[in-house]
This record gives sequence, structure tokens and C-alpha cells, in this order.
Amino acid sequence: MKVLITGATGLIGTQLTKECHKAGISVNYLTTSKDKIEDKPNYKGFYWNPYEGEIDENAFTDVTTIINLVGATISKRWTKSYRETILESRTKTANLIYNTLEKTKTSVKHFISASGVSIYPNSESRLYTEEDTDVDTTFLAEVVQAWENAADQFKKLDMRVTKVRTGVVLAEEEGAFPKIVQPIEKGFGAPLGNGKQWMSWIHLEDIVCIYIHILKNGLQGVYNATAPNPVTNEKMTRKIAAYLKKDLWLPKVPGFVLRLVLGKMSILVLKGQLVSSKKLEESGYEFKYVNVAPAIKNLL
Ligand SMILES: NC(=O)c1ccc[n+]([C@@H]2O[C@H](COP(=O)([O-])OP(=O)(O)OC[C@H]3O[C@@H](n4cnc5c(N)ncnc54)[C@H](OP(=O)(O)O)[C@@H]3O)[C@@H](O)[C@H]2O)c1
Repeated sequence: MKVLITGATGLIGTQLTKECHKAGISVNYLTTSKDKIEDKPNYKGFYWNPYEGEIDENAFTDVTTIINLVGATISKRWTKSYRETILESRTKTANLIYNTLEKTKTSVKHFISASGVSIYPNSESRLYTEEDTDVDTTFLAEVVQAWENAADQFKKLDMRVTKVRTGVVLAEEEGAFPKIVQPIEKGFGAPLGNGKQWMSWIHLEDIVCIYIHILKNGLQGVYNATAPNPVTNEKMTRKIAAYLKKDLWLPKVPGFVLRLVLGKMSILVLKGQLVSSKKLEESGYEFKYVNVAPAIKNLL
């Protein structure tokens, strides 16, 4: 079996590639950096420039599934032009793949795309399932909706389409987790805002295994990829502090301070959604990390 991964060189993609190899699955990948191109029997890189409509069509040879992880990071200052990059790195990329496959006879049968839980409206009390159709009014929700629409167009090519609404991925060295841990380690840890905003988290190992589970079982539709027990910002902060044996002696950091410092990006830490993983569990996926304390212990 051969898959094509976009964003294979990123946090999730790097681990997913390893897991594919363990399962005997070969990986082709599209990269925007020529210096990241490798050419091994089970790991072949191909160049693309989605903004110029440039793509190496050899990337699709014998591929049966595309796992679409490409996307500019959201944790960089949201200037007007960078907001465009966040959006276009998700839509122009999918559109370019679509337009390329539309004009050829393709072996691709399944398009699995990353997506985000930030499509759901911020709430301290609502539990969101995949059935919920309410969409938040934030920039991020707008991005996720456009991203999912770009994925859905592959249905017109008779492909199965899966959208993996991913929570905050907890990993040892990259992503949100080291940024949360750092101030706590230095003794400046404190919950943010009122601390009650939900953080629907997922361990890196689980998100990788979920992609393999979806791939092997041919699952389609929307799946929330978040651990079964989300925590509030305050609980996450306290659990990390407890594990590191650090005191949280500071008061909560007021929301207005974070809005001043981070601008529109402050919604990343001040807002959150309580998201259900039931559909994924009912599909037979067994989480390795159900509760946050063992995940923190593993990562620290
Ligand atoms: N990590 C999380 O907490 C989280 C949560 C929810 C959703 N997701 C989504 O899951 C996907 C994978 O996440 P990740 O954390 O593994 O991402 P990542 O580490 O930031 O990697 C994404 C990859 O996308 C490519 N890329 C970056 N900027 C680009 C741009 N402007 N134009 C085109 N390609 C670009 C890069 O690949 P090349 O350099 O090889 O081109 C990069 O390796 C992303 O779409 C992300 O939004 C992640």
C-alpha cells in the first residue's frame, strides 16, 4: 500500500510516516522545500509550490490514499498577510491536488484531511459531537470551514473523504505543550483568563494512530480527534505544575492582558471547546492516553 502525505515533514507527519513504515505502508510526500526531498524505496519526496500551481504529478503514482496535513502554523503572529497564508496553505493546496487529479485517471480512493475543533463555537458548558453544525464566528472557524469545504470537493471524484477535527496535540518538543510547560517550569505558571476554557487535547501518539485507524478501516465523514477526557486550562496548568512540583503562586493572567499582548491570536488560549471522542471510540479506536496526567508524565 502507498499513501501520499502532504505536510509529512511536520510534527504529526514525521511520526505518521514512521508509523506507516512500521505497518508496511510506503509514503510519497509533497514538500515546498526542495532540500527536504528524499528518495528512498518507502519514502519519496516530490516538490510542489501551491501558490504557483506547480506540482510534481509523479507523487500520485500508485497512491491509494492521500493524508492531507499541510498547513502554515497558527502560532505565529496573525498579521493580515499571515492570516491569508494560514487560509491559503490549506485551501490552495487542496485545490491544486483536486485540479491535478480531476484531469487524470487516478488510483486515489480516499482523501483524509486534518481539520480543527476550533470550528465549534467557544463554550464552557456545551459538549460537541460531530453532529453539531454550529460554526464559530472566529477567523479560525472560518479557516476550518474553508479547509473542510476544500476537502469535500474530492467526493466529486468518487473518493471517500474524512475530516479529522484535531484538538491541541501534546508532544514533547514541538507544538503547544512546551509553550505551556516553560513558564510553569520557570515558576511563572498561572492559569490564563478565567481558567475555565476547555482544552480538548490529544497525545501525539494517539493522533498518529488515529490516522492509521481511519486509513485501515476506510472510515469516512467527520471524526473528532481529541482524548476522551478534555481538561480546562486551569486543570492542565495545575496538573503540569503538580508533576513538576512547582507552585502556582501567581494570580490568573487576565484576559485583557493576553488580548493586548497576543491580539486576535489570544483566542488560542482564551477560548476553547469541550469535544466528544465517542464516535471515534465507537469505531473501535482505543486511546493510549485517556487522561491528561499520564500524558503529561509521558511527555515530561
Ligand atoms: N499540532 C496541533 O496541535 C494541531 C491541532 C489541530 C490541527 N492541526 C493540523 O494538523 C496538520 C498537521 O499539523 P502539524 O502540527 O504536524 O503541522 P506542522 O508541524 O506545522 O507541519 C505542517 C507542514 O505543512 C507545510 N507547510 C507549512 N507552512 C506552509 C505553507 N505556508 N504553505 C505550504 N505548506 C506549508 C510544511 O511542510 P513542507 O515544509 O515539507 O512543505 C510543514 O511541515 C496541520 O494542518 C495543522 O493545522 C494540528
